[in-house]
Amino acid sequence: MNASATGTVSLRAAAQACRFHIGAAVAVRPLLEDPRYGEVLAREFTMVTAENAMKWPHLRPSRGVFDFSGADEIVRFAERHGMRVRGHTLVWHHGNPKWLEQGAFDRRETAALLREHIYTVVGHYRGRVAYWDVVNEAVGDATEPLRQSFWLRQLGPEYLDLAFRWAHEADPAAKLVYNDYGAEGLNEKSERVFALVRGLLERCVPIHGVGLQMHVNLSATEWLPDLAQNMERLAALGLEVQVTELDVRLKKPIDAADRQAQAALYADILRTCLAAPGCSALVLWGFTDRASWIPHYYENHDEALIFDREYAPKPAHAALVKVLRERCTPLR
Ligand code: G3I
Repeated sequence: MNASATGTVSLRAAAQACRFHIGAAVAVRPLLEDPRYGEVLAREFTMVTAENAMKWPHLRPSRGVFDFSGADEIVRFAERHGMRVRGHTLVWHHGNPKWLEQGAFDRRETAALLREHIYTVVGHYRGRVAYWDVVNEAVGDATEPLRQSFWLRQLGPEYLDLAFRWAHEADPAAKLVYNDYGAEGLNEKSERVFALVRGLLERCVPIHGVGLQMHVNLSATEWLPDLAQNMERLAALGLEVQVTELDVRLKKPIDAADRQAQAALYADILRTCLAAPGCSALVLWGFTDRASWIPHYYENHDEALIFDREYAPKPAHAALVKVLRERCTPLR
């Protein structure tokens, strides 16, 4: 399936002349099993993120074993097709393997395990992963500056500094990102994210960017008017900003008007990102509704992505192409 087969220009072609990456999260199984998945991915995107394959349970099935098989498939695919890779994620409160969380390790042992993990994983992909989501979702949703987690309990707040420093040691050329959700606009959580990354910079911790995940829906868009200002203040710290996990879930029953409204929201976000200083990439959390986390996690929602289950482009695809063609800054 080439771009003309769909009757539309691809995102990749529209973004080609720009200093900007348009990406998608990738799952290993459809990449290996469904040729259409890889065709559309390579045709449409300039960047990939591993949706799950670089998380602890996938890379570390047991304490002594590193399994890079799934993640390597994604990285090799990206290299074959001239795409950049975002690594996701080295430190997360969610989904850590049982052997780790229930292993009764003391502080020193936990630190050694984390350092070993970061050195091995980042080292394995040294020079091949452009951006790492080093720490994911560390800020609390309520009022606490840092979320309660295995890492906070075991290592204290210092775990963030350590993770970024070790990642930098393992690959000095990789750009290191703090990634979170619910911090898109100007709100209490984005204040805490801002304070966190400013603190890291003040302590000379190597951090280069902030990822705004953006798992959003049409009924709660109060963050949208503040998005530009939030991106600007992060860029003013000298950081890159990336939209890292964008999807726009629709509430069932879903009709054509919902898909048009979804397209408009996708376009607004891309337009804001292209206009913001330092916004270097927009990455979708998948690209086909055939392979999306949304229906598994939200009973009444679906169709969050820009291609349908048969890989036909939806209105959101055309809307993103149009914005790229109108607004992206040509390379000089
Ligand atoms: O692979 C197994 C499969 O063998 C089994 O049959 C099936 C039964 O439930 O589970 C499959 O694993 C699931 C995996 O996704 C692959 O689909 C896990 O249970 C499920 O927990 C896992 O969910 C992922 C989730 O992170 C937790 O790691 C989602 O795919 C992934 O989209 C989601 O991504 C996160 C980002 O990393 C961070 N930001 C939020 C975002 C959405 O939650």
